[in-house]
Amino acid sequence: MFDLNILLRKNIKKLAPYSSARDEFSGEARVFLDANENSLGSPLLKWYNRYPDPHQQLLKKAVSSVKNIPAEKIFLGNGSDECIDLLYRSFCNPGKDNVIICPPTYGMYEVSANINDVEIRIAPLLEDFQLNLAHIESLVDVHTKIIWLCSPNNPTGNSLNREELEMVLNNFEGIVAVDEAYINFAKQKSLLQELNDYPNLVVLQTFSKAWGLAGLRLGLAFASKEIVDILSKVKPPYNINQATQDLALKALEEVGQVNDMIKEIVDMRNALAEVFEKMAIIEKVYPSDANFILIKIKDAKKVYDYLLTKGIVVRDRSRVLLCEDCLRVTVGTEKENTDLVDALISMKNEQ
Ligand SMILES: Cc1ncc(COP(=O)(O)O)c(C=O)c1O
Repeated sequence: MFDLNILLRKNIKKLAPYSSARDEFSGEARVFLDANENSLGSPLLKWYNRYPDPHQQLLKKAVSSVKNIPAEKIFLGNGSDECIDLLYRSFCNPGKDNVIICPPTYGMYEVSANINDVEIRIAPLLEDFQLNLAHIESLVDVHTKIIWLCSPNNPTGNSLNREELEMVLNNFEGIVAVDEAYINFAKQKSLLQELNDYPNLVVLQTFSKAWGLAGLRLGLAFASKEIVDILSKVKPPYNINQATQDLALKALEEVGQVNDMIKEIVDMRNALAEVFEKMAIIEKVYPSDANFILIKIKDAKKVYDYLLTKGIVVRDRSRVLLCEDCLRVTVGTEKENTDLVDALISMKNEQ
């Protein structure tokens, strides 16, 4: 049985969170002399001299209506990287607990575990980049607090099998963190609407990919109200700055424009994959549900270096488990994609 009280670190259970000036007074007032801000203003036009809303209420309300999830089940982080770190800090006792990671996958699950001194147990994906359920099950013990799953997965690009994700959710008594950073580019449906069925589910999403706002640093964790309350207690009080709150609110009014960009990126991804398929130097094009494509290519490091000489940078994943000789290529603009293909062709001709 999933029991949040057992999972939670004792020190976090007892934690009295920082109470900010904005927590202690949030009504209407004429004169704010409670937070040691600069009362004269700021060098900028906006009233950035004031601390932002620590609870991001307006922004959460807007996210709630776009995602159709109650605001009390939404946590906002300084990028999803902050959400990842906060899950460790809330649930994993350093030097005692462990988590399960399924590489090749996003690197921050491991880095954050190391920062928090949490043991990492590895259940590599199978050859087809799907979960090895038997291996995952064999690694679980009473100290296993989180299983990290990424769907669509970075760097492989594929979605994880829906039934297998649900199998993990149904059978693991700790937190199952499903990172959906690339879900907007996928055919597979998000797990967001299953939040009510799985008290152990945390869905991570981000404004950095489809929303085109990587520079603002805004990530989302959707979970039960109880889990969201814990993350909110542990986070720094003003983790989402005022500029990000203002700009993200504006962006949320432009769902149509974002959907158009998603469609364009998916079309270009499919077209680029078709071109790659026909290129002799590319040995394999992995199917992608994301805004990037993983390709297996002879002498990947050499190709990577050659592309750099042409001013094109891709991600060299050739030393990553199961990705030997692989490069990960983000879908660019039409022109950038053509430049990349032309460079690969010219490399072949120069050899
Ligand atoms: C799977 C995955 N999760 C999370 C992130 C980080 O997202 P954010 O920019 O919100 O910190 C990335 C970034 O590449 C990613 O690939």
